[in-house]
Amino acid sequence: MSKLLFPEGFLWGAATSAYQVEGSPSADGKGESIWDRFAHTPGNTWNGENGDTACEHYRLYREDVGRMADLGLNSYRFSVSWPRIFPAGGGKANRKGLDFYRNLVEELHRHRIRPVATLYHWDLPQALQDRGGWANRDTAEYFNQYAAFVFENLDLPVHLWITLNEPWVSAFLGHALGVHAPGLNDFNTALQAAHNLLLGHGLAVKTYRESGRKSEPIGIALNLTPVEPASDSSADLAQAVRTDGFMNRWFLDPIFRSSYPRDMIELFSRSFQVPHSEDDAAVIAEPIDFLGINNYTRIVVRAGSSGEDFMGSPVNPPEKEYTEMGWEVYPRGIYELLTRVHHDYGALPLYITENGAAFPDRLKKDGTIDDSRRIAYLEGYLAEAWNAMQEGIPLQGYFVWSLMDNFEWSFGYSKRFGLIYIDYQTQERYLKNSACWYRDVIGRNGLEV
Ligand code: FCB
Repeated sequence: MSKLLFPEGFLWGAATSAYQVEGSPSADGKGESIWDRFAHTPGNTWNGENGDTACEHYRLYREDVGRMADLGLNSYRFSVSWPRIFPAGGGKANRKGLDFYRNLVEELHRHRIRPVATLYHWDLPQALQDRGGWANRDTAEYFNQYAAFVFENLDLPVHLWITLNEPWVSAFLGHALGVHAPGLNDFNTALQAAHNLLLGHGLAVKTYRESGRKSEPIGIALNLTPVEPASDSSADLAQAVRTDGFMNRWFLDPIFRSSYPRDMIELFSRSFQVPHSEDDAAVIAEPIDFLGINNYTRIVVRAGSSGEDFMGSPVNPPEKEYTEMGWEVYPRGIYELLTRVHHDYGALPLYITENGAAFPDRLKKDGTIDDSRRIAYLEGYLAEAWNAMQEGIPLQGYFVWSLMDNFEWSFGYSKRFGLIYIDYQTQERYLKNSACWYRDVIGRNGLEV
């Protein structure tokens, strides 16, 4: 048996997001979000489920923070709900909305758990969607104003600020594939939304720096996925480059190199309008202090119908393990991403801001949940993160997705990602075996493998 020790001060956390766990969709003056609207529209989610109740974290947060403390977590990543604070997107702020996060942060401090606050995890105020949402450039400015308000008025320290969670998902699943809010199906709109999301991010970082009020690190969380060709054929190799351009470089390049990747601009321009502005490029590339990486799996692609296909045909290699989402368990991917980002985009601190797996967990009569596959998954990915760190990659923390089972977007409550099992009928929480395993990992600051 060998010990894989992590450095002192390493962040051991778990993550959630507002719409997925809070419930209380109109408490204390909260406005409607695009996810409230989308999930309440028939046909959009599994079984017609929505986040009205979720884990009732809005009501039960004290209890939940207590559980985090019992597990020994030293960090908690949550997201702030924009429509709680600006029910109409902009205009007058709703103090009571902010109070919830102030109380949450205070409770975390009381337990010595470092708060990591994400400002946008997909719940845009519906009032802004009614004016075009992220496809409208004004939304970037509204985001900036909302962010400025939170920076200024959340008067307790957080450990890290994250502007956006996974802008790729917001833009493309929301505006091109229509499987996420706001449920649109237009690639031009999606490209515009992606651009305005990035612009909103850059504006918020700039505002944060210029105000000079806070010195906590600020960054962004991107969903990054290693892409591999299904064969050595030149068509598959070229496809993998395009798919990687779409999935990964379309966001990494503007943030770190101040321009969209050339090959992808050229490709997209053949059929779509690619947003372009030198001024915006400079804002989007406003330097950040760290990058958050959300990773679950890899993509293996076969060449699509033409050299213009930027998605390709994903294939599932046989004899691999897949989670309940149908995602391949591919721990090496986290090593590949960490080393690649470090070498290609600069030596800034990195965090794994999400990693985890859904499996069909069963609550036994004795109140236990034997989720050994989740333990194996997490152990495999953490060991590969550790390997990257042995090569000098500055990884500073790791967040399991998720602290507890929750509303998994269009899949409703059918996918369980939590370390903690939720009985949605009673709101009882039960520790899965993986939660106890994680507590031990944190206790010895490393793995025994
Ligand atoms: C990520 C999301 C998170 C959750 C996990 C499974 O893409 O950021 O909210 O849905 O996937």
